Amino acid sequence: MRNSRIIGAGMFVPPKVVTNDDLSKLMDTSDEWIVERSGIKERRYAEDGVGVSDLAVEASKKALAQAGLEPKDIDLIIFATLSPDYYFPGSGVLLQHKLGCRDIAAIDIRQQCSGFIYGLSIADQYIKTGQSERVLVVGAEIHSCGLDFSTRGRDVTVLFGDGAGVVILAPGEAGKGILSTHLHSDGGHFDKLWTPAPMACRHPRLSHEILDQGLHYPIMDGKFIFKMAIGKFAEIVEDALKANGYTLEDLDLFIPHQANLRISNMVGKKLGLPDEKVFNNIQKYGNTTAGSIPIAISEALEQGKIKEGSLVCLASFGSGLTWASALIRW
Ligand code: ACO
Repeated sequence: MRNSRIIGAGMFVPPKVVTNDDLSKLMDTSDEWIVERSGIKERRYAEDGVGVSDLAVEASKKALAQAGLEPKDIDLIIFATLSPDYYFPGSGVLLQHKLGCRDIAAIDIRQQCSGFIYGLSIADQYIKTGQSERVLVVGAEIHSCGLDFSTRGRDVTVLFGDGAGVVILAPGEAGKGILSTHLHSDGGHFDKLWTPAPMACRHPRLSHEILDQGLHYPIMDGKFIFKMAIGKFAEIVEDALKANGYTLEDLDLFIPHQANLRISNMVGKKLGLPDEKVFNNIQKYGNTTAGSIPIAISEALEQGKIKEGSLVCLASFGSGLTWASALIRW
């Protein structure tokens, strides 16, 4: 069976920079608290009316340019986001249209922080089976329109930012490209990080009461997520390496989903990885959920941290709960 490999990557974040000091004018928080607890110094927010598909268009253009392809060359779109432009249809079809692709399949997936690795895994299967030749995998979010900017929401709001990352997958030579993906879920803890409203099965979907209670904003049990994330990140990196006969010494770069700098540092230490092998950019962008890993891939390539032949492990943990990893030989 043929392998799939990444032949292009691109990222786009909105130009508007929002610092911790900016947030401290809206809610009771401080630069010191946010940096100490999360490592985040600033994040980007999209302008009003800019949808997640718009961010994805810009990131896709860069990935296409890097791959030397045109939109018409893409034969499948997989779009991971928890913040689609509309309740329905999904953002995949919007990207298909705005980018000027043929009338190809556009699949929308959720899986939150693990959305990109889930998407990568789906794309990998389509290429392995010969169904697709050039797949565009998107991870993108616009969180800024869905956050509680009062002090009530400060634990969640300070962590998140907007952004998009895209990779293009194509068939590759054996022993190179995506070596394996490992996907997991446990819906038993769905309410540890979730947005309760609007619920599709409740009358009315939205009410003044729901808005007053702030149930349309994300709610998180931060301590639970923190502890669970550290264990699961380490577990799935080890699973990915073991499945391919590698050890941690073989790894050139670990790209964790950018959830929190403290989580990434603790996972790196738990695995015994030197700091230079753990990629971090959360300081600049906050947590962009499905966008964080493809944005990191783009920057790691640009900074020369991923080179031809590098062994790279991607790993994620987040709402769902979902957790996942992918091992890639570049
Ligand atoms: N600014 C100032 N004070 C705050 C803020 C804020 N933004 N948010 C919470 N506080 C207060 C709390 O109200 C609390 O006050 P109290 O002691 O008077 O009650 C105090 O700070 C300590 O709160 P804790 O919740 O104990 O703080 P903790 O050390 O657990 O840090 C945090 C909170 C940063 C959310 C942490 O739990 C965490 O990082 N969890 C992981 C969550 C995460 O990374 N989620 C990302 C999404 S999931 C994923 O991507 C993996």
